[in-house]
Amino acid sequence: MLACRRGHRSYTNEGISMTQDQNFVMTRDTFPADFVWGTATAAYQIEGAVQEDGRGPSIWDTFSHTPGKVEHDDTGDVACDHYHRYPQDVALMQHLGLRGYRFSVSWPRILPEGRGNVNAKGLDFYDRLVDTLLQHQIQPALTLYHWDLPQALHLKGGWSSRETAYAFAEYADIVSSRLGDRVKSWITLNEPWVSSVLGYLKGVHAPGEQDLATTVRVAHHLLLAHGQAMPILRRNITRPDAEAGITLSLVDVKPAQTDASTLEAADLHDAWGNRLFLDPLFKGTYPEALQRHIAPYLPIEAGDMALISQPVDFLGVNYYFREVVQDIKNRDSLADWDVQFFRAPEVPVTDMGWQIAPDGLYDLLLRLHKDYTSKKLYITENGAAFTDILEEGPDGPRVHDPKRTAYLQAHFDAVRRAIAQGVPVSGYFVWSLLDNFEWAYGYDKRFGLVYVDYPTQRRILKDSALWYQQFLA
Ligand code: FCB
Repeated sequence: MLACRRGHRSYTNEGISMTQDQNFVMTRDTFPADFVWGTATAAYQIEGAVQEDGRGPSIWDTFSHTPGKVEHDDTGDVACDHYHRYPQDVALMQHLGLRGYRFSVSWPRILPEGRGNVNAKGLDFYDRLVDTLLQHQIQPALTLYHWDLPQALHLKGGWSSRETAYAFAEYADIVSSRLGDRVKSWITLNEPWVSSVLGYLKGVHAPGEQDLATTVRVAHHLLLAHGQAMPILRRNITRPDAEAGITLSLVDVKPAQTDASTLEAADLHDAWGNRLFLDPLFKGTYPEALQRHIAPYLPIEAGDMALISQPVDFLGVNYYFREVVQDIKNRDSLADWDVQFFRAPEVPVTDMGWQIAPDGLYDLLLRLHKDYTSKKLYITENGAAFTDILEEGPDGPRVHDPKRTAYLQAHFDAVRRAIAQGVPVSGYFVWSLLDNFEWAYGYDKRFGLVYVDYPTQRRILKDSALWYQQFLA
């Protein structure tokens, strides 16, 4: 059942609410003609082939091979075997009518020791991938860092060391020198908040540390890495329409009540979760509300903030959920913050437990445009995990995932409404093309438009993929 029918003002589909203007039908034509519709993936989550063609280990290899760190002790060793199956996967994208594909490059495939020796076979892989995409009329959007730091650099201090930012600049130089003539969109980092906070404070992502001082250093060095890489990208990317930016994980934060204490809690949570990266990138300062918590650990050197806040061509937005903040316990000590969230019982959640709030995306896009940047925005990730069941029907295998379709429709529509308000959103990459290795959750959580039957590596289009195909047709 398609959600957006004529004549409905506000209603729910699969429990996901949508706000609609009367007499409106959402189609591809209600978006700008040059709007990029695509999907997104990341190297460690889909490639597999971790020991092939000279690839070195990353912190995610180490972490996933440490017992107890990932659900069922799953690893990315094989994942979706995309390293070998990329020609079929790209053909599948074309079959769906996609015009954009966001993928990430594995740093340890290019530089197995993180710096120094360049692995030609690693570069060749991405060269072939990019050419295959272009042959299929699919625009590549390349992320340089989606969390797979070479283990060798981690052993030398990793992101807690300033040297890693310089190593990243060298890596950015190598990749952009090779692919800068063909890749249109360049993304320095994916979600530095997740790689710093989940990796170094919460310990649930690689490298699994739990220290606030390190986390703050890591955050600054990630931003510095972005700042170091930007001028290099500008020098090396020669496609006339090429562009460079960064992708952040952003949340729609709302207070549960309007009393002063709740408002302060929501503001602090927003400062930590959103402004920790938005403010340095677009205002050249760390958020005032966090100063007393982070200033003692920030390793800022002369010139850093100017480098970090140099103009980008776009901001990549990864949006998944809204958080309604009720309270922060232990708010005097950031390392011990215990944020209390509120969820009304009727608000639906995904398999991740994330509150589904398409209006949150709308609010976020308007906020970013008003408070942070007039440059273009891309939705570089949005999507949902639900329990998918593979059924054998008379016409072959099927996966009926109406909730995912409803989720996508409602979020597409939120983007459409933001564009109507003048926000320059230029593309949307559904997370994800394929079911894949969902970090600490292993293969339990399925985000794909395409179902992956891991034992056989068979790809099966879910109903949501067929809906997207129809939408794009
Ligand atoms: C984002 C990550 C992506 C994927 C989705 C579900 O935070 O960037 O790799 O795990 O969440």
